[in-house]
Amino acid sequence: MSKRKQIRFGVIGCGLMGKEFASAIGRWCHLATTDVEPVITAVCDPNEQAAAWFSDRVPTVKRVTGNYQDLLQDSEIDAIYCAVPHNLHARIYVDIINAGKHLLGEKPFGIDQAANDQINQAIAANPDVLVRCSSELPFFPGALQIIKWIQEGRFGKIIEVDAGFWHSSDLDPNKAINWKRMIDINGEYGCMGDLGMHALHVPLRMGWFPRNVRALLSNIIKERPNGKGEKVPCETWDNAILACEVQTNDQEFPMVISTKRIAPGHANTWYLNVYGTEFSARFSTQTPKQLASLPYSSGQPQSWHVQDVPHVSAYPVITGGIFEFGFSDSILQMWAAFCDELAHGKAGMSQPFHCATPEEAAQTHQIFTAALQSQREQSTISLQN
Ligand SMILES: NC(=O)c1ccc[n+]([C@@H]2O[C@H](COP(=O)([O-])OP(=O)(O)OC[C@H]3O[C@@H](n4cnc5c(N)ncnc54)[C@H](O)[C@@H]3O)[C@@H](O)[C@H]2O)c1
Repeated sequence: MSKRKQIRFGVIGCGLMGKEFASAIGRWCHLATTDVEPVITAVCDPNEQAAAWFSDRVPTVKRVTGNYQDLLQDSEIDAIYCAVPHNLHARIYVDIINAGKHLLGEKPFGIDQAANDQINQAIAANPDVLVRCSSELPFFPGALQIIKWIQEGRFGKIIEVDAGFWHSSDLDPNKAINWKRMIDINGEYGCMGDLGMHALHVPLRMGWFPRNVRALLSNIIKERPNGKGEKVPCETWDNAILACEVQTNDQEFPMVISTKRIAPGHANTWYLNVYGTEFSARFSTQTPKQLASLPYSSGQPQSWHVQDVPHVSAYPVITGGIFEFGFSDSILQMWAAFCDELAHGKAGMSQPFHCATPEEAAQTHQIFTAALQSQREQSTISLQN
């Protein structure tokens, strides 16, 4: 019997991401020191096949249902992971929070600004419920190192920040449409709603909420097969480049946030580049071990140093320091952070990088809503924090 404190979870939405959570729990023994442990006791998905994947593979699952209200009324569930299409976020997240269950919800936390406002109202009415937004990629060791350098003030005057998340499978015009390409289910934000929280998580955590945004949005492939031999409209934005200006107490710099579904050659590339007068750093999950940095002082050469970062994660693991860190490791680390915060509170966490907050999710909605306006009006839109 495990001595770790157990947190009983219900999963709503047993698709791609719901399964990633189950898999992370399956290798919870990777975490060397954590004193908490999530256990999935119940799952909900109207798609019986998706739910059956859990009952077949996850022995702790006692309850399988197609109605998420069953999980909300279950007194043996402490917290919910909700990973459903964006058009369902507001209704289901609000019900979860009002039922007093802690929530790790998937981004974008509502299909649009109005939906996000509803979620935030429920959070305000239930201050004892912990609500966090999923975003795992900043847990890569290279990303955590850049965050540390930023917090140490290593960069001098920041020249520019460049962050993004790029996919490429939509380059194939014959790829069938799915809900992530449909405005009524994915939302008008298109690729920004799907990928934007990932790109913005670290900049927002660093306090770099932009004071304005000008957007370049592209819909490159305007129709796709629907799997029934027909072509149907594909109206969502494929790519978005957001040119922003950031002003903090002591810094003023441009920031480019790029989210692309059609970035040829990029399978799942998350990157963060910070350029400064005294130090610059670049990290991309495309080369997950490599972290580039360039220290500079007047008259000295400008040379990039590229190091293989050791496998040093936020939460210590049994994996040896020379082994590569990957996507599923970042998911495991995010879950460790959520469970740590749930068990010990933010102040009592064993490391400082907590999961993305509802406030950060709300900031992404402000930015994406402004980006849509910028595209419509071909103008720069001011933002207020
Ligand atoms: N953090 C990440 O890296 C990441 C990656 C992909 C997707 N996502 C996010 O995760 C969420 C889900 O995406 P996905 O890729 O897992 O989608 P998916 O389509 O694979 O899974 C969604 C599941 O929700 C189920 N569902 C639909 N209506 C439901 C309801 N009323 N009650 C319960 N379940 C219901 C569907 O049957 C499906 O099984 C989205 O918000 C998406 O943006 C996050």
